[in-house]
Amino acid sequence: MKFDPTEYKKRNITIWNEVAPRYHKRWASINQGPFQSTSKLIQCLDVNKGDSVFDLACGTGVVTKKIKQKVGSMGYVVGGDTSITAIKTAKKWIGAQTNLDFVNMDAENFSFSKQFDIITCQYALFFFPNAQKALKNIKKNLKKTGKLGITVHGAAEKVPFFNSIFDAVTKFIPDYAPPGSPDLDRFGTKTSLKKEVRKAGFSKIIVKKIVFKFNPGTFEDYWRNYLRYVAKPLKEKLGTLDRIKRKELKDTVRENVKPYTLKNKNIEFPWEVLILTAKN
Ligand SMILES: C[S@@+](CC[C@H](N)C(=O)[O-])C[C@H]1O[C@@H](n2cnc3c(N)ncnc32)[C@H](O)[C@@H]1O
Repeated sequence: MKFDPTEYKKRNITIWNEVAPRYHKRWASINQGPFQSTSKLIQCLDVNKGDSVFDLACGTGVVTKKIKQKVGSMGYVVGGDTSITAIKTAKKWIGAQTNLDFVNMDAENFSFSKQFDIITCQYALFFFPNAQKALKNIKKNLKKTGKLGITVHGAAEKVPFFNSIFDAVTKFIPDYAPPGSPDLDRFGTKTSLKKEVRKAGFSKIIVKKIVFKFNPGTFEDYWRNYLRYVAKPLKEKLGTLDRIKRKELKDTVRENVKPYTLKNKNIEFPWEVLILTAKN
């Protein structure tokens, strides 16, 4: 089946409208595991009081909120996302603030009347089917002296929290993700990320690799939480497996997490994250 970027984006909007509140509760609002990257990203960008910042694919506002605190009342911050529910969650969480706006927009099609000092994009570049178009948009909306900050997850095998399940699930349900979908780890190496950003015309590109740790509890905790937090369309796909296949799937995941299981039965995953900064 031919990949349809419009359908893919529509599906992502539906998914994020459904999962945003759960994502916020479990991940974004708790600075655990990979979300320790938020402070690191802001540190790498050297955000100053009075700066104007656009947080692209802001989700439930984890980067937006920290940046707003950093730029102060003289600064200006905008968070933008395709998911209305994510934006609503961010607004509620951050509360009313002067010089803070949210816009419902697509990374591949946006334009502001004024350029920004900084544009950030955490854990989202890989969701944009035409990432080049999004990066070129970012470039246009940055001042000549502007800076870009991007955070992405590392390559699949460097993020076993996702991969232990994804690797098993795709064996049992080959069309778990829509056929032809872009790989979510396609910018998961320093080389691939740098190459994409350089192609869009950015300079002085620096990529830092950081490995965080994440403890999801025991295997049973990990599995239960996966089923609890997974998006509806994926849950429906899992529901198509019969009882025996479902057990086999669970056993395969259990095998996959063995290398990360400690003597006390708790899992400790390494979680590689790449943080890129660049100049316009
Ligand atoms: C993993 S979340 C990251 C959110 C936030 N940056 C954070 O660090 O928590 C990915 C976000 O990308 C958004 N997104 C996906 N595709 C998008 C697009 N084409 N344009 C704008 N936002 C998009 C989703 O709605 C979701 O909120």
